[in-house]
Amino acid sequence: MKNILEIHDVRKYFPVKSTISSLFNPGKRIYKKALDGVSLHIPEGRVSVLVGESGSGKTTLARIILRAIDPDTGSIIFNGSNITRKTGKELLSFRKQAQMIHQDPYSSLNPLMKVFDIIKEPIDIFYKYYSKEERIKKILTVLNDVNLKPAGEFAEKYPHMLSGGERQRVAIARALVIEPKLIIADEPVSMLDVSIRAQILQIVRQLSINRKITVFYITHDLATSRYIGDEISVMYAGKIVESGQIDRVLSNPLHPYTQALLDAISEPRFDNIDKQKVIRIKNFDSAPAESGCRFFNRCPYSMEICKKEPILETKEQNHKVSCFLYDKNENGVQLSNC
Ligand SMILES: Nc1ncnc2c1ncn2[C@@H]1O[C@H](COP(=O)(O)OP(=O)(O)OP(=O)(O)O)[C@@H](O)[C@H]1O
Ligand SMILES: [Mg+2]
Repeated sequence: MKNILEIHDVRKYFPVKSTISSLFNPGKRIYKKALDGVSLHIPEGRVSVLVGESGSGKTTLARIILRAIDPDTGSIIFNGSNITRKTGKELLSFRKQAQMIHQDPYSSLNPLMKVFDIIKEPIDIFYKYYSKEERIKKILTVLNDVNLKPAGEFAEKYPHMLSGGERQRVAIARALVIEPKLIIADEPVSMLDVSIRAQILQIVRQLSINRKITVFYITHDLATSRYIGDEISVMYAGKIVESGQIDRVLSNPLHPYTQALLDAISEPRFDNIDKQKVIRIKNFDSAPAESGCRFFNRCPYSMEICKKEPILETKEQNHKVSCFLYDKNENGVQLSNC
């Protein structure tokens, strides 16, 4: 299967301006390691999920892919072309092919513009040569595609006249209208009422299938990811700790962090989404380790060897995990399979 996007060993460290510890170490710069060597492959035409708790680096990765910020090191390959440092026309051409749907449908749409003009804006940028009739036809078609019907009526409304779910559909229509190859959806349903989350995800999934659009779906919520995804990558403290085909990973989670996330949702169903989630792990509040396995402080299985850096390795059929539990000891015997 062809990969539309390849992320190779991307790092992004943000300087931390002033902390208590910097008072005791004047002159020593302190960094937040938002991404610490992330490598990912996203197959074309599929829905790939990135799951991880708050602060694990998900949005930073999305912003780097879309070239909103530059990585410190590493590279982004889109459709076979290295776009990591592209500028000018080449960057514009990439931006036409990769669109973002944001978490907050209330702030992502200009309140002073009608839906028609909101969706027309990207056409004006990327398809300047379209006639007026072509623009109108495209806008009405895309509104129909996201189930905002009658499209003519919705086109005339302002964002304040729409529900949260309708706004998010406008945001999806806006992303779709320029026919991108890749859509990055960063927590697109987390601010919506539970009852309409499934509808929005269904629309995104259908669009991916019907229009052969690759979707990179970012969430902190495993329950919704099973519903929409084909592949999944699990992120912890700026590192991918497990990845693979979604049913395989969720039915046989290898990394203790993925296991803890799954434990927290007894049954991944929509009516479970807002239940209080208790991640059953050791030292729930401890911060990620600075080196070695970042999950060390919270892992119920941590061993001496986990102070070394684990590598994300394939265990079976594209199912990768970065955990010493699956290493062989000096006798060639696997320590544990949890
Ligand atoms: N511009 C920035 N300057 C400094 N630190 C930043 C910046 N952007 C992100 N960070 C830090 O990097 C880490 C990762 O942030 P990021 O927004 O990528 O997390 P996330 O996984 O998207 O979290 P959430 O689920 O809450 O959206 C966080 O600790 C955050 O505070
Ligand atoms: Mg985020």
